[in-house]
Amino acid sequence: MQTQERLSQNQATKTATKPYSREDWKRGYESQRQETDYWISNIDGQIPPELNGTLFRNGSGLMDINGQPIAHPFDGDGMIVKIAFKNGQAYFSNRFVRTEGFIKEQAAGKILYRGVFGTQKPGGWLANLFDLKLKNIANTNVIYWGKKLLALWEGERPHSLDPNTLETFGIDDLEGILQPGDPFAAHPRFDPSCAMDGGAPCLVNFSVKAGLSTTITIYEFNPDGKLLRRHGHSIPGFAFLHDMAITENYCIFFQNPVRFNPLKFILGWSSAGQCIQFDPSAKTQIILIPRPGKGEVKFVETEPCFVFHHANAWEAGNEVFIDSICYDSYPSLDEDIDFREVDFDAIPPGQLWRFQVNLATSQVQRQVISDRTCEFPAIHPKNVGRSYRYLYIGTTHNDTGNDPLQAILKIDQKTGEQQIWSAAPRGFVGEPVFVPRPGSTEEDDGWLLVLVYDAANHRSDLVILDARNLQQEPLARLHLNYHIPYGLHGNFTPEYFGPLV
Ligand code: CO
Repeated sequence: MQTQERLSQNQATKTATKPYSREDWKRGYESQRQETDYWISNIDGQIPPELNGTLFRNGSGLMDINGQPIAHPFDGDGMIVKIAFKNGQAYFSNRFVRTEGFIKEQAAGKILYRGVFGTQKPGGWLANLFDLKLKNIANTNVIYWGKKLLALWEGERPHSLDPNTLETFGIDDLEGILQPGDPFAAHPRFDPSCAMDGGAPCLVNFSVKAGLSTTITIYEFNPDGKLLRRHGHSIPGFAFLHDMAITENYCIFFQNPVRFNPLKFILGWSSAGQCIQFDPSAKTQIILIPRPGKGEVKFVETEPCFVFHHANAWEAGNEVFIDSICYDSYPSLDEDIDFREVDFDAIPPGQLWRFQVNLATSQVQRQVISDRTCEFPAIHPKNVGRSYRYLYIGTTHNDTGNDPLQAILKIDQKTGEQQIWSAAPRGFVGEPVFVPRPGSTEEDDGWLLVLVYDAANHRSDLVILDARNLQQEPLARLHLNYHIPYGLHGNFTPEYFGPLV
């Protein structure tokens, strides 16, 4: 019912004035071939001197191979952006991940691989027939853990890079844990204080092998990068699982109600991503896997929706709460339409929902927290897996309707208060990253680091917002020398990986 209301609300704004121009938005998808390093000197405002450490961020850097366009930005070669902060200064670097596919395609000057999201090798279906070899593009996330910088792509093993120079070392099997062809997800969770390890932090990640049934493997690593725990679980049916939420006792997945028809993929007619179909007659399954690998996996059903990302989850008594960005259906990929020409009004918007699972009765209650279009959630790192108060997330400039993300929304879950900082009309935002101020005690005492594409100057800015008050002007805008194409995920580490100062 609420779904219907939301749909009609969105349709009502179809004719409303758009806060951006499509030409501006499209230019943020132009390939970026430059790779440079420099001290950022063009700055409005002041970088907080207490902000010390390094922001790493990943995303597609190329939307074409030597002029041959790729079909979807999710198929683009991973490019790492690094911004290192020290004593009020910031140093920028960017490098492509030198994957085997990147090196071979750049040398050949043409597309050699099929992409998961629609990029086909030239030559039609014959050239793609039975070609199941996908390119590990290392473009989805980048983390610094166990003294390693890892570029993640969920279909295959990570690549490690030198955090100082961004030189690619190569595929990393994590001390022999991963075998060739093994997937390793791009959405690990950082547990700030793991009860099983005496309160030490740990990294929790997963891998998914999907088919007629699906195997989920959970991996937990200590701060040195050593494997602490590994356990595998077989789940009935095909599962498309991009993200996971954790609590003290569970790893939580949403098994979206989709069907996968691999025949068109194997025959070369369609990409794997295009063979996924939303099934509104099926339910969404919430899968709760006990963290230490003991006890039974729990399945609970809720109304059909599609989820890429979770904001957070936590336990309270016999209940588990999960905050997730939900779509009414899978935003399916039309094979004939250029992604730059997408009709935003025709695709489902992401909205923030809360799911409340009663473990005793397996009943699920759900409610919408915010019906604004939103994506790319962030919270204070100490609240991961625990109850929390403040959420930060990319959103649209307008209150209703579906548009590109141009603003950052802060939600106070205690009071319901919302604050918005908008880069419209000519700015387009990526994922915010929350950095706590050293020594802070309040949950929102820190900064939001946001890459913003500035169409007016065809370059990107790194904007630093005071997370306590998004209504005020940014603390600083760092104007980069060139644009960074819209990307995916990143993380901040308090370790500084810039030049000696
Ligand atoms: Co993601």
